[in-house]
Amino acid sequence: MPGYPALPEGIAYGGDYYPEQWPREVQEEDVRLMREAGVTLVSLGIFAWVLLEPAEGRYEFGWLDEILDRLHAAGIAVNLGTPTATPPPWFSRKYPDSLPVTREGVTIGLGSRESACSSHPAFLAATSALVTRLAERYGEHPAVVMWHVHNEYGAPLGECYCPASVNAWRDWLRHAYESLDALNDAWGTTFWGQRYGDWAEIDAPRWSHTVVNPAQRLDYARFTNDAHLSHYRLQRDLLRGSGKPVTTNFAGTVNCKSMDLWRWAPELDVIANDHYLAGERADNHIHLAMSADLSRSLAGGAPWMIMEHSTGAVSWQPRGIAKRPGEMRRNSLAHVARGADAVMFFQWRASRYGAEKFHSAMVPHAGTDSQIWRDVVALGSDLAALAEVRGSRVAAEVAIVWDWESYWALELEWRPSGDLTFLERISAFYEALWRAHITTDFVHPSADISGYRVVVAPSSYLLTEASAKNLQRYVESGGTLVVSYFSGIVNEHDTVHPGAHPGALRDLLGLSVEEFHPLREHERVTLSGGATARVWSERVRLTGARSDQRFTTGPDAGHPAVTVNELGAGAAWYLATAPADGLRDLLTPILDRAAVTRPRGLPDTLEHVLRGRHLFLINHADTPAAVPGVTGTDVLTRTPFDGEVPPGAVTVVRLAPLP
Ligand code: GAL
Repeated sequence: MPGYPALPEGIAYGGDYYPEQWPREVQEEDVRLMREAGVTLVSLGIFAWVLLEPAEGRYEFGWLDEILDRLHAAGIAVNLGTPTATPPPWFSRKYPDSLPVTREGVTIGLGSRESACSSHPAFLAATSALVTRLAERYGEHPAVVMWHVHNEYGAPLGECYCPASVNAWRDWLRHAYESLDALNDAWGTTFWGQRYGDWAEIDAPRWSHTVVNPAQRLDYARFTNDAHLSHYRLQRDLLRGSGKPVTTNFAGTVNCKSMDLWRWAPELDVIANDHYLAGERADNHIHLAMSADLSRSLAGGAPWMIMEHSTGAVSWQPRGIAKRPGEMRRNSLAHVARGADAVMFFQWRASRYGAEKFHSAMVPHAGTDSQIWRDVVALGSDLAALAEVRGSRVAAEVAIVWDWESYWALELEWRPSGDLTFLERISAFYEALWRAHITTDFVHPSADISGYRVVVAPSSYLLTEASAKNLQRYVESGGTLVVSYFSGIVNEHDTVHPGAHPGALRDLLGLSVEEFHPLREHERVTLSGGATARVWSERVRLTGARSDQRFTTGPDAGHPAVTVNELGAGAAWYLATAPADGLRDLLTPILDRAAVTRPRGLPDTLEHVLRGRHLFLINHADTPAAVPGVTGTDVLTRTPFDGEVPPGAVTVVRLAPLP
């Protein structure tokens, strides 16, 4: 299997390139400007199906040949897209039943993108026909260094409810369960009298006037993931013959709820992520770091690509907030710090027409006499200076448990509190660790976690018996586990584990929960350590664990709120509530006891990441940050590091070898 693309060398730099929107003189100027900015890689052809196949079976490749040759002559490598995210109008006209249908029964209209169902036989056939030709024609083209399949599977087109999907779903169920008895048991169809006597009786879990069977919905999410993944695999297998790496760009590892990216990752030669800042959020750089760490974890620690981010305004957000001075540079280098070996943008040149004409680009509407262009050129030279970072790895001593199935299950209807969302607790723990300058990996609960000093499970509502055993083995052999409330509650079918909560984790945590007491919207409770907490309270009964802190107010006053169970050589901690702002203080002694290494005394606005022997220091504050005790060369300025990172600046120190 080919790994990370051999070319371009160093840290790849560039973006989505749509020359088809521009006359030849602009295309020629593009290549000149790309060279000026140090661009080394562009993604091409992503939405160009109708230009490549204007009528069924009639292909026009000449325009693409010309562009590929021009880029190649300029030394710019190409990540060649397959344009299956935009089926041509002729296709939709000929196969109207290929249009996706929403859960509410609305048929997707034309004039946008993602307008064909991944399970529709005609779409699969048309995909094969086109991709076979692309592979034949460009597999050996010297400009093409890798393939970019489709675009952002799962967003916006996640679940589809068209007749082709329902057929494929029934096949998927037959394969998964083999017998209707097994399906009826797994789905608990005795509840509300839903027992099925024939496969043909089973429909997709379309919108209904009240809650649809949660186990059925959970399986539909799995089926949807698999339907898109097989559309990807179909293409990947056709492109494989070229020997060049194949990828698809994830629609934001953290935000793409609809795809189980743990299942996708092994099918890609290189992990590629798209990340857009939520412009209005003050802490959006922490969200960025989380997305990057999850990308690296999906890549198993190998280098990955930030395939799309923005130079400024993102036009699909409520307000196209411009980046602050230096923010684009901080964002780009934060991705590199966390393992990216490519920095790519959507898009090269701002479009004059179409849905995204107000989206920022590397060449803005204002042209090259603009701050964005100057920043783009400067970033090119930063990335050239960072070539020596390529291929090096980021080590983490702490991991956070992340499971898309738990994401799906937790956010179905009728949970004990509407405040329970998957990302809420994960983000809270991630932020506390980020501010303590601890780099985290993300892990599936069944993964080998033996190498981490601390593993945190902030949101493991769905946890299989096997995964719970994995966590238990980890603790028994010396690991430190931190579990947050409402974890270990249901199995893979959203069925409550037998007995008192948290069924799958009772023994490991040395406790049981008698009753949940979710809090009202603004309600606060206090803990014996002084912290206030929100969202959740519950009646914990100790069966082996000891109480570290109690609730002092609220429905569970006097009862345990933070507990620890010493088990084998390790310890399992439990937090029965959401500390309002004291999470970091609460974690400090746990991290200390587990001997997690981290720098002390730095401002909590300074991003501090060690990649190989390069220390990335990103100052997100308006004041300088002193970083004592670090010696080495600042790779970006080629001067000795003077122990201070100016406001808003990025410093990358090649650490001096230890004496
Ligand atoms: C991405 C998408 C791109 C572009 C971009 C704009 O989700 O893959 O094609 O639309 O958003 O932010």
